[in-house]
Formats: sequence, C-alpha cells, structure tokens
Amino acid sequence: MKVTALKFENYRNLKNNIIKPCAGVNVIYGDNAQGKTNLLEALWLFCGGHSFRGSKDNEVINWNKDFAKIEINFFGQEREQTAKIEFKGSKKRVEINGVQKSSSAALIEKYCAVVFSPDHLNLIKRGPSERRKFVDSAICREKLKNAVILSRYNKILTQRNYLLKDILNHPSLEDTLSVWDEPLIKCGALLIKSRIEYVKLLSKKALLYHKGISNGKEELKIKYISSADIQESDSVEEIAEKLRNKLKTGKKDDIRTGITNYGPHRDDIEILINEKNAKTFASQGQQRSAVLSLKLAEASVLKERMGEEPVILLDDVLSELDSGRQDFLLNEFNDCQVFITCCEKSNKEQLKDGKIFFVKDGEIL
Ligand SMILES: Nc1ncnc2c1ncn2[C@@H]1O[C@H](COP(=O)(O)OP(=O)(O)OP(=O)(O)O)[C@@H](O)[C@H]1O
Ligand SMILES: [Mg+2]
Repeated sequence: MKVTALKFENYRNLKNNIIKPCAGVNVIYGDNAQGKTNLLEALWLFCGGHSFRGSKDNEVINWNKDFAKIEINFFGQEREQTAKIEFKGSKKRVEINGVQKSSSAALIEKYCAVVFSPDHLNLIKRGPSERRKFVDSAICREKLKNAVILSRYNKILTQRNYLLKDILNHPSLEDTLSVWDEPLIKCGALLIKSRIEYVKLLSKKALLYHKGISNGKEELKIKYISSADIQESDSVEEIAEKLRNKLKTGKKDDIRTGITNYGPHRDDIEILINEKNAKTFASQGQQRSAVLSLKLAEASVLKERMGEEPVILLDDVLSELDSGRQDFLLNEFNDCQVFITCCEKSNKEQLKDGKIFFVKDGEIL
C-alpha cells in the first residue's frame, strides 16, 4: 500500500496543501511544534480509528475554523483509490472512492497503517494491560470474529465480577456463579488461542527486525504468559479445561476478593532482550528498539494476513538511537512506504534514498 498524495484543509496547524510522498522512506523534518506529528496523524486517521494522540475527532479542526478536511490518494488492492474525511462539529463524514460511507469503520478494509509514537514505549514501561491491548487490537483487526469474542468475554467477566461482589453479602447467590463460568471459559479459551498464535508469529518477525536494528547484537523474544498455566501448544479444548480448573480451584479466592483472578484478562506478554526482561533491564535505546521491532513485526504480520503491506508511520523514533540503529531505519526498508519524523539535521542527511519534507510553522516544503 502506498500513499501517492495527501491533501489537507484547516487541519490542526498545517497550512492548506497537497503533498506527494515517495514510495520509499519519507522524512518529515523540522523543529519542535512545527506540525510533523500532525502530518503523521492525518495519515493514520485513514485507518478508521481515532488519533494515536488520544484526542477527540473534532480537535483536529484548526482553532480558527469550523471544519477540517483530509484526503488521500493511495495505491492499494492493485488500484488507485481515494479516501476523504471531513470533520465538522462533533461529526465525521467519510468518503471512499467517491462513495459516502455510514461509518469510518469502512476505511479499515481499504487502507492500513502501523504507527509508532513515543507513547507506545508504554508497551514495555507500563503494566500488562498495555501489552494485552496491543495484542487484542491486532487480533481484532485481523478478524472481526475476534472483536466479537473479546467484547463478549469482557461483558461476561463484568457480570461475573458483579455477582462475586454480591455473594459476599448474599452467600446464597453462590449457586448462580456457574451460569457465567461456561460462557466465560468458552470465550476465554478462543481469545487465548488467538493471542498465542499471534504472539508466536509476531515474535518470529520481531526477532529478525531487532537483529537488524541492533546489528546482530541482541535477541528479542516475546512470550505469552498465562495466569492459568496454559502452554503455547495447547489446543482450544485443553485451554478451556485449564481455565475450568482454575475457576474451580480459585472460586474461594474469587469470592473473597470480589473479582475473577484467572483468565486472559490477567495474562501478560513478556518482552525479553538477550533473555532478560526488557521492562526491568533494558536501556532507553534498547526499549525503543524493541517496541519499534514489535511495530515493524506487526506490519509484517498484517502484510502476511491481508496480502498488503501497511504504511509505516514512525513518530520521533530516531532520538535515543545510535547512528547504526538510525541508519537501519532510514536505509534498510525497501518494500514498505515509511513516514518518519525527526528534529535532527544529521538524520535527514543520513537518508540515502527517499524524500524529505521540511515543516516550518505548519508550512510543508
Ligand atoms: N486544532 C489545532 N489548531 C491549530 N493548531 C494546533 C491544533 N492542534 C495542535 N496544534 C498545534 O500544532 C503545533 C504542532 O504540533 P505537532 O505535534 O505536529 O508538532 P511537532 O512538529 O511534531 O513537534 P515535536 O518535534 O515537538 O514533536 C503545536 O504547537 C500545537 O499547539
Ligand atoms: Mg511531534
């Protein structure tokens, strides 16, 4: 997938313009607060979701205007396509190839991108919920069925937890707990199986990227850590049986604490560099490299499963990386279109082949 043009109007601080990126590496260069991330964010919004900056849709409208429009031409599914998004008030209007769509979810099937922003370092720095979210959003993007299973699991879990809290005050309710157990086990087992399969594939790809970034010095591994002793090779039925046992043996604890203590909502994904936990032991640069490898691996899995390589958006990734690691990112990507922001003049000079966009006060040159 390649973006051939991006047009924007009244979009954040960017001056109305059309840019024509190259099919390889595009460096977006400029001082702080000039509009580099805004440009990357515009390219991301065509994935159909919300901004990676966590802002509301209408916050992209320039402060002095009452609407904003972004439009891309891209080559995907072997043809030229267009997509437009218009933001007005709290509403968003989406058009794909000239046809208006009822929701921005329609974009997911047409356009795909993977983004790295400094916030993604939380994948390593923070607790397990960030990592579960990362894997869950990837498996949901892959198959709509997974999104349905995840949402069912969360609903059943909430109900079961409500009941557990009630049992503390009304012990006679304990008999009704089993109503939630089987549906929870069924969805939980399917969810864990999809996660494990995804993590296995991701780990294989991330290992190779991390080797490239670290010039062969580091080995990155990603492992699924189950709260119910589930192994990678377990079948869905075996996973279900283990969850069933855990719910049985953990029932007293669950009632005492008022929450469900075992299951996919308690699992984690361990990230190891040279067999050491990256959260505890890795340096800033190593953590950044590891998250980046995960993101590139995510793109590679997407390409394998969807038959289309996503556009790669890298925000502020070069700082804290040594010149060898920077060189790998700038010059070793041949088959994907990459957009990469940076502030350092030396980074743009490192680029051997590609296009440079200079951003100054919202103007793109
Ligand atoms: N809706 C908006 N209307 C006008 N300006 C906005 C809007 N939203 C954000 N801005 C401004 O856009 C400017 C550029 O932001 P951006 O995050 O793109 O900077 P950047 O070039 O990525 O900087 P850095 O190198 O610090 O990351 C900021 O100064 C911000 O205040
Ligand atoms: Mg920025």
